[in-house]
Amino acid sequence: MSTIESKFQKTNDFNEITYGRRSVKLYDPEVKISREEMTEILAEASRAPSSVNMQPWRFLVVDTPEGKEKLAPLAKFNQNQVLTSAAVIGVFIDMNNVEHLEEIFSKAVEHGFMPQDVKDQQVKFVKPYYDNMPAAALRDVNLIDAGLASMQLMLAARAHGYDTNPIGGYEKDQIAETFGMDKERYQPVMLISIGKSAKEGHPSYRLPVDTITTWA
Ligand SMILES: Cc1cc2nc3c(=O)[nH]c(=O)nc-3n(C[C@H](O)[C@H](O)[C@H](O)COP(=O)(O)O)c2cc1C
Repeated sequence: MSTIESKFQKTNDFNEITYGRRSVKLYDPEVKISREEMTEILAEASRAPSSVNMQPWRFLVVDTPEGKEKLAPLAKFNQNQVLTSAAVIGVFIDMNNVEHLEEIFSKAVEHGFMPQDVKDQQVKFVKPYYDNMPAAALRDVNLIDAGLASMQLMLAARAHGYDTNPIGGYEKDQIAETFGMDKERYQPVMLISIGKSAKEGHPSYRLPVDTITTWA
């Protein structure tokens, strides 16, 4: 069962949300997004699925002039997006996310989503699995999860009437420290600019389904 209790959503039209999405590089700088609405967008993004429901994604919302000033030199080839958007969201993975495992499973029991014995069984299996996973493997799992949340964020933005641009061109080795985050723990995934487009994104070609699909 799901209910939509959005205060801010503009559309639920699937075609409008998916086929209407384009990477937008120039935004109307007058359009801001309130922190209340941004919170709703992030909550919608965080409905993305994740491995064992671990939710390793973290969001750094840069929506102030001071924050943008710090970010701009780290994204030299994406200045327009940084400077004109309502916000740039830094998506990170938390490499110590296992700290939240007990909370995630206990809350599931508390809300009646999971029986206590299933929780006990799962925690017994999942905790050592995550604790002992090599860092490279953990990073891979976390990146897949955070990629899903990133996409969901961009679709949620569309539902709210905003445009986005995923951005990989920035100084990944400097971003965490610049914003006072522990760089070993919080590893960057991508930036996502969000705002109201001032110039439409270009249409872009997609490989045919025949090329990208094997049927078996
Ligand atoms: C991980 C990732 C990194 C990207 N990095 C940049 C970037 O640094 N600058 C930019 O302008 N667009 C960037 N893009 C946007 C792509 O160029 C764009 O998604 C692609 O051309 C398809 O266009 P569309 O998003 O309008 O469908 C990135 C996209 C992804 C998924």
